[in-house]
Amino acid sequence: MLDPALALGAEIHLYPLHADLSPDLVALDRLFTRIQKPVKALLATHYFGITQNFSGLREWCVEREIALIEDCSHVLFTERFRAAGSGIDGHYVVSSPYKFFPCTDGGLLYAADAQLLDKVETNPPSLIEELRSIMRIIERRQCKELSASDIAAITSQLALISAKQGAAGNDEMVERSAPSALFSDASVAKASLRSSRFVVDHSVVDENIRRRRENYDRWVQSTASVPNCHALFAALPADCVPYMFPLHIERPATHFHWLKQLRVPVWRWDEMAASGCGIARDYRLHLLHLPCHQALTDNQMDWMTSALDKTLRHTSKGVQ
Ligand SMILES: Cc1ncc(COP(=O)(O)O)c(C=O)c1O
Repeated sequence: MLDPALALGAEIHLYPLHADLSPDLVALDRLFTRIQKPVKALLATHYFGITQNFSGLREWCVEREIALIEDCSHVLFTERFRAAGSGIDGHYVVSSPYKFFPCTDGGLLYAADAQLLDKVETNPPSLIEELRSIMRIIERRQCKELSASDIAAITSQLALISAKQGAAGNDEMVERSAPSALFSDASVAKASLRSSRFVVDHSVVDENIRRRRENYDRWVQSTASVPNCHALFAALPADCVPYMFPLHIERPATHFHWLKQLRVPVWRWDEMAASGCGIARDYRLHLLHLPCHQALTDNQMDWMTSALDKTLRHTSKGVQ
């Protein structure tokens, strides 16, 4: 999210978050008084699909003539469906429907006041891009199914992986005033693919929500008595559509490494921008993002929960 601001030549300031990932309003106020240039926009995120109440933040922004951008990237927010509590307070809303549906792109910019979007123009993708996307959608459906023997094999795989003393990774800080290589000028005004819109429009949202909540609950239950970890949000609010299951682990140096070696699909905010926020520094390495996608089969969930359970119970001498 920093790249577009850097591309506009904007100065970026990061405000601290509380442990539940809500903005620290007192620290935000303090930060604001130290900024020399006029502040144009503030980005506030509903992390992991757990919507926050941004009404106070909205007031704070309005008083200072700052545009509030509600980051619904982790929220099920489409042209037809808005998860409860989302898209209410932001002057603008951005969302990433491709995180919730099996499509290959799709970023959504929404404003309750449609006039705010009058000047936004987009260019349609080429036919080749459309065809490539359809191929990718078909390829993604051919996912490997897992069986009881894969689960049985985890213990010996883990023994082999943990016996190897891997070299500790190096943290590297990169300073940049221009966008990263991930940013492309050409895609700034690119409209979503037609295939992506089709997939989003024709998916059964209720089923998507049911499966995601079910998978999230399986993670909650399966990790409840596992040592060296705790769920960030053990109780899912009633209307929430979870993006992923955030799990805080105590020993990332070994456990995250082993999970990766076992090929558990797990994410972290490794490349987070450096800030003074203690929570951000802690979550960068300690907070795992585990999938609860609606397309996961029961066997895949069994394999992942089992791999996580065995890994977090496993220790090896000499490794932190
Ligand atoms: C909190 C948050 N905001 C924004 C984004 C950017 O979304 P996109 O992948 O659609 O660029 C991400 C990406 O994962 C994210 O985690």
